[in-house]
Amino acid sequence: MELSKETLTKIEEVIPRYPEKRSAALMVIHLVQDELGFISDETCSWIAEKLEIEPINIKELITFYPMLRETPWAKKHIRVCRTLPCALRGSYGTCKILEDKLGVKEGHVREDGEFSIEFMECLADCGEGPVVMVGEDTYENIEGKNAESFADLLVQEKLDTSKDFTSYENGLVSKSPVSKPTKKK
Ligand code: FES
Repeated sequence: MELSKETLTKIEEVIPRYPEKRSAALMVIHLVQDELGFISDETCSWIAEKLEIEPINIKELITFYPMLRETPWAKKHIRVCRTLPCALRGSYGTCKILEDKLGVKEGHVREDGEFSIEFMECLADCGEGPVVMVGEDTYENIEGKNAESFADLLVQEKLDTSKDFTSYENGLVSKSPVSKPTKKK
């Protein structure tokens, strides 16, 4: 397992903030997962050693919290918001359309590793739901026929060049040629 110098520094900084090393477990897991995408058995043992606890203490956290993963997501990971404002605007239907068109159930990775879908809580863009994220790009108002076209473009690998769908982040770039967008989450 290899972690960047930056992540290792953050880990070294975060541990002493807690009265006991073991109390930093969740923070350390998040830092590692942010870089690697998931926590393998090897990583689990590495974190446990670092915090002077047993791997099972880390494993139980990973298996308890749904945002923590033991296996990686697919090449294209799609997140659909299911929290009330997006749900009221049709995100359950959006998720179903994506599942059908992409051929994978939410919470799973397609067999060929191309797509995975996560139906999850708020993606922090509540006024423009249903919100769908593809990787780190945020798309708004994805529902009904719109969701079908969106899914078709994803399958055809044409979403990035589509004029019909511009991600929130790319919208910021086109509005402001000088300032780089900062991610809003
Ligand atoms: S409720 Fe969907 S982004 Fe917040």
